[in-house]
Amino acid sequence: MHRVVYFSNANLDLTFSAIEAMVAKAAERNRPLQVSGALHYNGHNFLQILEGPHQALTPLYLQIRKDLRHSGVVKLAHMRISTRSYPDWGMRLYCGAPKRVGAPLETTSREGDLPTMIDAFFGLGHGAAFA
Ligand SMILES: Cc1cc2nc3c(=O)[nH]c(=O)nc-3n(C[C@H](O)[C@H](O)[C@H](O)COP(=O)(O)O)c2cc1C
Repeated sequence: MHRVVYFSNANLDLTFSAIEAMVAKAAERNRPLQVSGALHYNGHNFLQILEGPHQALTPLYLQIRKDLRHSGVVKLAHMRISTRSYPDWGMRLYCGAPKRVGAPLETTSREGDLPTMIDAFFGLGHGAAFA
């Protein structure tokens, strides 16, 4: 199983209800692919964590990259994982600078510290990712 994490700039025209609808649709599409994850949104940027089988994640990420609802997609991580950090949802939306999630998270250095990565790239604002 793999995890892909990316950062992007949300299209300025995107309303919150449009994002909610997009995530609901994404969740429906992800479940049969055994893909789960989280989409963080701070009003300007997305940080998405996609977890699932490699053969599902790769085409999905390429499809998401092309989506005109965001731009400047930068992949932050692509790693092999043994446990999902977001096991229960096809896709879950978090708004605002994300707090540390309660889900079980791997902390081994090989798999990375996901909350720290989210804080570093997202919690400090969109400038931080490009600093
Ligand atoms: C920030 C962002 C996150 C997205 N996340 C997902 C996702 O997790 N799963 C998914 O199927 N589509 C997701 N999408 C939508 C896809 O880019 C694409 O629109 C969707 O897969 C339908 O593709 P289609 O309209 O070509 O059939 C996301 C789009 C954006 C802008």
